[in-house]
Amino acid sequence: MSKTDHHDRRQPQPYRPYRWPKEPDGHSGGIWFGGDYNPDQWPEQVWAEDVALMKRAGVTMVTLGIFSWARLEPSDGVWDFGWLDRVVALLGEAGIAVDMASATATAPYWLYQAHPEVLPVEADGTLVHPGTRQSWRPTSPVFRRYALRLCRVMGEHFSDNSTVVAWHVGNEYGWNNATDYSQDALKAFQGWCRRRYGSIEELNQAWGNDFWSQRLQNFDQVPLPEHAGVRDAFINPALRLDFRRFCSDALMDFFCAERDQLQELTPDKPLTTNFMVSTDQCVLDYERWSHQVDFVANDHYFAHGPGHLDELLCSDSLVDAYAQGHPWCLMEHSTSAVNWRIFNASKRQGELIRDALAHVAMGADAVNFFQWRQSAFGAEAFHSAMVPHAGPNSAIYAQVANLGGILRRLSQSGLAGTQLEPSSIALLFDADCQWSMADSTLPDCSIDHWQQVYIWYQALLDAGYRADVVPLKGQWERYDVVVLPSLILLDQDQADRLRDYVSGGGRLVVDFASGIMDDHMHVGLGGYPAVLRDLTGIASQEMIALGTSDQGGGSILVSEGIEGNIWVNEPLSIEDSVRVLARYQGSRSYDIDMAGKPAVTIHGYGQGRVLYLGTGFTKESLVSVINRIFPPDFFTGAAGRGLHNGRDGDPRLVHLIRSGPQGRYHFYFNRGSTVVRDVSTMGETLVVQRATPYSGGGLSGNRYTIGVHGVVVTRQ
Ligand code: GAL
Repeated sequence: MSKTDHHDRRQPQPYRPYRWPKEPDGHSGGIWFGGDYNPDQWPEQVWAEDVALMKRAGVTMVTLGIFSWARLEPSDGVWDFGWLDRVVALLGEAGIAVDMASATATAPYWLYQAHPEVLPVEADGTLVHPGTRQSWRPTSPVFRRYALRLCRVMGEHFSDNSTVVAWHVGNEYGWNNATDYSQDALKAFQGWCRRRYGSIEELNQAWGNDFWSQRLQNFDQVPLPEHAGVRDAFINPALRLDFRRFCSDALMDFFCAERDQLQELTPDKPLTTNFMVSTDQCVLDYERWSHQVDFVANDHYFAHGPGHLDELLCSDSLVDAYAQGHPWCLMEHSTSAVNWRIFNASKRQGELIRDALAHVAMGADAVNFFQWRQSAFGAEAFHSAMVPHAGPNSAIYAQVANLGGILRRLSQSGLAGTQLEPSSIALLFDADCQWSMADSTLPDCSIDHWQQVYIWYQALLDAGYRADVVPLKGQWERYDVVVLPSLILLDQDQADRLRDYVSGGGRLVVDFASGIMDDHMHVGLGGYPAVLRDLTGIASQEMIALGTSDQGGGSILVSEGIEGNIWVNEPLSIEDSVRVLARYQGSRSYDIDMAGKPAVTIHGYGQGRVLYLGTGFTKESLVSVINRIFPPDFFTGAAGRGLHNGRDGDPRLVHLIRSGPQGRYHFYFNRGSTVVRDVSTMGETLVVQRATPYSGGGLSGNRYTIGVHGVVVTRQ
């Protein structure tokens, strides 16, 4: 094989040097606090009140101008910065820093009218019209020209402005243009494939183009995975996966061009853009993106329900891994309800402050909301904000101000700059795996890699362990235990890494859907999971889909109260050295000829051990698998290193620690639905929210009763 991008993609990429926004006076101290500020939606008289209320609430930074292109450039090449300069001056006088947007997220109508060729196209050929946001194709040379001109003008305009401490390039790239099927995209995709594969024969092999007569003669024939009729799901999966990779790269390339233009003019201002990492979406390959920003920023919107805090921690854990142990910025979250779900739940009492502190515990040194003042018109009028429609005499503003005070106190205590202490269990995540399961042609199409990561994350918490979510391409060798949660794509290099890890004493969990295909979605032959077979010591011949009772199927019993779901791997061969920990049983196991066959096994390999799960599990069943079927010492090192949540391993409590030369900061959260009594905390108490002293008092060695949504923060 020639040396192409295909190989480069697997090599570790260099990171940009970490740079964090410094306060206008050059100090870098506290935790930034603020949100998106859209003063262009309000008459100028409101601005002075805004700034006064910001000061009262302890706001230290706002993001300006994200959607202001039409105000800044009212017609082609005509600029109006007067209003923005007045806002920046007001903020600057009040000591509030600005994270300035490149303002390129959404173009003005005049641009779309003059150049409809910048509009993206959907898979079925439908043109995406302007009217919401990001109605542009990242591969359009015309759009790039306009956007880079705006970046240049913005950069020149604010180069000497010390109130502007950072650049917010674009906004949530891929929100509305994650995929584009235009002619520009086609041309760019063909070029991307040429660089990746070098020769068309290499591409034919990688995509398996001998299937259904898809062999190509040259790169000009490379298609986009456009709408292919009602059988869309059967579009070549390898082509579709490469297209997703390309789309993420095309947006990243666009971001880098904007970043570089701004950086050239303002080399002293760090640059970032806001990712969208939460367990209900993985739009772009943020592992690759994380190498391109000066500091990582993320937007997180809560998932209502009993898993609210767990989901936040799981998502943030991946963000923290992307940030490589550096503090990161929570660029957006909500004070209460959003307005874009079907059911837009409000935050319950205590959740506003609890969520913000949970992000801080997970490594955020900036806490921002969307948005400062709730819009009075437009598509987001019913999205919560820091100053709601009711005004400052409201419960939400009071909580915002309360939070501002708490963050100030934490800043004064020296928390900023400390790092989240890692756990000893890594759950591996990979965007390619996530994408390969969308529109899947797998035995069961309901399976979702990111959901499986989350199921593991929550199950471990319920079992008393905290895990870290780590990118497959990241550094996971230092963990005692590594779990592959339906990491369906694994190529030989990655399998070799896992082999070295286990040989050296690592403990690995391989689940039912891991290691089935390589990174071109070619199935490994000779028994699943081919690439890991020597590790598991067990190979399977068929995947027997279980389905649900509504579908005429149903789960399978593994042990009393433990049910397998999704599919069962029917064993082909088992090495003598494999120890069976659980076998299938019950009527369903007879129905599918699996009675008595191994469901959970363990295998020694080198100095390490490999635990293999032959079927999927719900979160509840997985907790029982961990507690009752895993060997009791499987997580020993992990528990021994203080990962157990709280006192006596009460799984309702999450105990997170940030540390640095300044000290160790302990965060104790109640993740349950009942009050947790008698929680011993370490050190001097800094924050007590929805918690009361359990007994005694004093400043050290305190014990607390932590209420629902409650949190205690201490410093040791
Ligand atoms: C984000 C976006 C913000 C705002 C917010 C509402 O996706 O960046 O501009 O729309 O959602 O939740």
